[in-house]
Amino acid sequence: MAREAIHITDVSPRDGLQNQAVAVSTADKLELVRRLAAAGVASVEATSFVSPKAVPQMADAAELLREVQAAWPALRVSALVPNVRGLERAQAAGAREVAVVLSATETMNRRNINMGLDEATEVSAQTLQQARAAGLATRAYVAVAFECPFEGAVPAERVFALAQRMAAAGAQELVVADTIGAAAPTEVKARLATLLQALPGTALAVHLHDTRGLGSALAFAALEAGVRRFDASVGGIGGCPFAPGAAGNLATEDLVLMAEGCGLDTGISLPGLLHAVDHAEAVLGRPLGGRSAAWLRRQQERGLLG
Ligand code: COA
Ligand code: ZN
Repeated sequence: MAREAIHITDVSPRDGLQNQAVAVSTADKLELVRRLAAAGVASVEATSFVSPKAVPQMADAAELLREVQAAWPALRVSALVPNVRGLERAQAAGAREVAVVLSATETMNRRNINMGLDEATEVSAQTLQQARAAGLATRAYVAVAFECPFEGAVPAERVFALAQRMAAAGAQELVVADTIGAAAPTEVKARLATLLQALPGTALAVHLHDTRGLGSALAFAALEAGVRRFDASVGGIGGCPFAPGAAGNLATEDLVLMAEGCGLDTGISLPGLLHAVDHAEAVLGRPLGGRSAAWLRRQQERGLLG
């Protein structure tokens, strides 16, 4: 019998790299994507069309997106866009899928995209509508969906309302994000279970950070709620430059290890992911890897890994 599958979007080329001190070349980003695709990753968030003044690392968005889509036509590739200007830049580069990013608090929106909550909601909705009208696939992040680094605990009702609004505006995939890795597993399970029921026509994904070592526990809580779509970042790299305390994303290798251990099919090879971690380490010049990477490497050395 076929195993039940989960769908993983590796966000390392975008969330993983956006806050790195080292400037990463377009060629090195392409090599990262090449290794991810070779590992069996079917979906990546390749870049963001944001202000190059705000995030210099993403200044090569157009060139990178074009090259990624040309080199791996079967790969699902999304690009983050904060506004209509970003959408238009993404369209000019041939984007097939875009993601808007709406934070659930006033202050986080202000720090991230220089808009208050109401304006950010309107702009995100307008960007989604325009993207759908142009035939693009869409995702919408609801960021700081549990805790905000500036405003503390975020009410569930507000997250539900924003999620509904994004779905109504045309978000085909709704990505609930624990941007700073401060959620509790019980809350992840409860909020995602509610949203799965409330948004039957929308694909529901979760985006987790491993700031406190709870990344896999949060992912397991999401699995228990019924979520089967996850963002993760190879090597556990990542974090929003405008959210203080946002440490690395849930590592793709940790998620794959956990999910496969639970009998779920990810379609992704762990040795292949380690090969991508090697590249990220070489480029960023420091040791990387999720909680499982050192153990996975030892298993590999002993010939016990795939
Ligand atoms: N891409 C590139 N440039 C953009 C842009 C986009 N999506 N949106 C606006 N700009 C440009 C404007 O053309 C203008 O350029 P100019 O100074 O040469 O005239 C400049 O940015 C200011 O425009 P404005 O609308 O006033 O933007 P802002 O200064 O209020 O910044 C954002 C708003 C959204 C562009 C900026 O905050 C941003 O890029 N944030 C990204 C945050 C991010 O990536 N966070 C991590 C991922 S969640
Ligand atoms: Zn993130």
